[in-house]
Amino acid sequence: MLQLGDEVLLYSVVFVVVLLGTRSPLWTTVLTTSLYLFLTMFRFPQVPASRAQHVLHPPEGGVGSGKKDEYCEYYDQIQSLLKLPYLSVLHQASKNGATGVELDLEFSADGVPILMHDETVDRTTNGSGPVSQMRFSDLRKLDAAAKHRLRDTFAGEKIPTLEEAVEECIRLQLTIYFDVKGHPDEAAAALKELYTKHPVLYNSSIVCSFEPKVIYRMRQSDPEVVTALTHRPWSLSRFGDGAPRFSSLWKHHWMTLMDVVLDSAHHHVLWKLCGISAFLIQKNFVSPDYAWYWAQRGVEVIAWTVNTNVEKHYYQELLQVNYITDSLVEDCEPHY
Ligand SMILES: *[C@@H]1O[C@H](CO)[C@@H](O)[C@H](O)[C@H]1NC(C)=O
Ligand SMILES: *[C@@H]1O[C@H](CO)[C@@H](O)[C@H](O)[C@H]1NC(C)=O
Repeated sequence: MLQLGDEVLLYSVVFVVVLLGTRSPLWTTVLTTSLYLFLTMFRFPQVPASRAQHVLHPPEGGVGSGKKDEYCEYYDQIQSLLKLPYLSVLHQASKNGATGVELDLEFSADGVPILMHDETVDRTTNGSGPVSQMRFSDLRKLDAAAKHRLRDTFAGEKIPTLEEAVEECIRLQLTIYFDVKGHPDEAAAALKELYTKHPVLYNSSIVCSFEPKVIYRMRQSDPEVVTALTHRPWSLSRFGDGAPRFSSLWKHHWMTLMDVVLDSAHHHVLWKLCGISAFLIQKNFVSPDYAWYWAQRGVEVIAWTVNTNVEKHYYQELLQVNYITDSLVEDCEPHY
């Protein structure tokens, strides 16, 4: 019933907007019908709810079990303990009670999938330059702990390949949130290979991206994979701290309009087209009503990045939504 209400609303809005724009009832009917046919023919159904639940709320003692419903991010940031560089962080996260980790996927110049949060190696290693222009053999020579405050404890860490990290997570029974920033084709191919090699991933991992194209491509190459869209409202026109991205007023207003379009596409079209099981949203936008909106659609809300104890309590106990954090053991700086 609700889904039907959604659809009626969507097509009514499209109909009215196109009618106002074209003033042609014929074109309006053709365009609205095409959108309907497109969405009906090319959308992916959600994976069965039981499997999505298994991934998002791992059973005690099962894959990805842990003391708490908490997730920590994998990558390095100076302040936090859990963002230790690379493989040792997985042990640390597991020890601290994390049930899952986020793995950031990038590719070397010669196409090897590796873990790296940034596009360049400068912030976290002793090297310099864009990851995409460095060969894997050269990346591997870098000290991945070089810039970390605990570099003495973790000296000599290497940048891991995606496969090494995944195998370690499986061994530690950690749920994996793959964060894919771009390269839809390469990422879908690399991940598909991993799912084929380690079928347990279907029950213990989720592929997430800001880019709907990445998620759509992933489901094309394997419709069984559990997926999520990541979103921050106003991300086209503003930085995470709210500051405008563009100094030109004209451009700022244009991008703000694009933000409205993108936001409504995420909430009304893209989630359905991709058949996602979860929606990763910047924490400030989560409210009880918001969680309810998605619950009605069989989609789980996950808030990011929740970095203080007070907030963790609020999200987990009051809103009852999962969250992604940089640290399970200490409060750390907010980031977006
Ligand atoms: C980075 O550190 C590693 C390990 O200490 C060393 O082998 C390598 O030469 C260093 N690379 C650069 C560019 O300084
Ligand atoms: C995934 O979990 C289901 C039950 O929850 C189980 O039947 C299935 O064998 C599992 N698949 C893999 C590959 O572990």
